[in-house]
Amino acid sequence: MAEKAVLRIYRYNPEVDQNPFYREYEVPLDEVQTLLDALFFVQERLDPTLSFRFFCRAAVCGSCAVKVNGVSRLACKTRFRDLVEASGGRPITVEPLNFLKPVKDLVVDHDAAFENLKTLKTWCEPKEPIPEREYRIPPEEVKKYERPTNCILCFACYGNCEAVMDDPKYAGPFAFSRVYRYAVDSRVKDEHKREMVKNALEAGDVWSCVQCQKCIYVCPKGVRPAEDIQNVRGIAAEMGFRDYPGVRKLQHFVDWVYATGQINRLALPEEVYGVDPTPLINKFREKGAEVWEVPKPLPGLLEFRDLILEVMKEKKPHLDIDFHHVRRIDKRVEEVFKADVCTRITEKFEEQKSDFFSRFWKKLGEFFGAS
Ligand code: SF4
Ligand code: SF4
Ligand code: FES
Repeated sequence: MAEKAVLRIYRYNPEVDQNPFYREYEVPLDEVQTLLDALFFVQERLDPTLSFRFFCRAAVCGSCAVKVNGVSRLACKTRFRDLVEASGGRPITVEPLNFLKPVKDLVVDHDAAFENLKTLKTWCEPKEPIPEREYRIPPEEVKKYERPTNCILCFACYGNCEAVMDDPKYAGPFAFSRVYRYAVDSRVKDEHKREMVKNALEAGDVWSCVQCQKCIYVCPKGVRPAEDIQNVRGIAAEMGFRDYPGVRKLQHFVDWVYATGQINRLALPEEVYGVDPTPLINKFREKGAEVWEVPKPLPGLLEFRDLILEVMKEKKPHLDIDFHHVRRIDKRVEEVFKADVCTRITEKFEEQKSDFFSRFWKKLGEFFGAS
């Protein structure tokens, strides 16, 4: 007897069904290659009322993306046998992509996602003068946007995005990949780049990304939206867009680490969101946790500062790396510890400079050098 697997498919026709439901279908493994073939098998042989979307059958058009056992995938690119093996004999659940309006069964309405691209204005407005023949792009520049250019707008990343789940305004990983793609394209007008990046910050909420990396994991074309998002954030800071919670948080980390060697978790809400930290401080006290107005600077702080300056000056000169503004933190540290600790605690640094710190600074350097 032919080997079979069970597909458990989401069914919903808003015109007749009050609620969505699931129906199971048996599919013989030797008659199908891909998940898309399996859906055709169901539609042609078992249940002609099943709806799903497809076009190219070759991972080019992006229209067949669905959710399989919770993960977004292209049905035409997913080997059915691989799914069966991974499911270990359990039914394979196929559902429409998350966060897009259901139309019928596995078909969703893509309009809202396309609208996000329009809102952010992710296109090329060419610099003047436009050359009579073609633009010449050097290979180094093409390398920068080779990956985002491969995006086929399947919205698999959108359907698995943690930020979309939490923030309905969030434009989506694919949209920010496109912003990055045009923000580093030498053919695009500077004013247009600026407008696009501002839109990414304001209309698109680019700082809501939590860097879970799921968009990278699910993308069928090797696009790496989470990395493009980091680059868009960096470009925004370089363009001078700093008065946003994400940039303030970054500046807080950099300032406090520079000033004391540690972040200040109690000052964070105030500095980033402008909210009164007193309830947080009281809660910490209630719980018996250590409460410090400013953290005690690490021994050997001056050498720490030199290291930070070295890393930041080389990698990110657009942040406030002269650190004169950090004197305000130094003053608070001096008041609390009744000593000029920021400039005096230098002894024993060499003893304490372990491999751990070397690795930490290397990582910091790599992080800020991401673009
Ligand atoms: S890394 Fe950001 S954009 Fe990508 S899935 Fe996670 S939250 Fe969404
Ligand atoms: S980035 Fe990848 S997953 Fe997202 S829409 Fe483009 S091709 Fe699909
Ligand atoms: S049918 Fe075109 S990408 Fe799957």
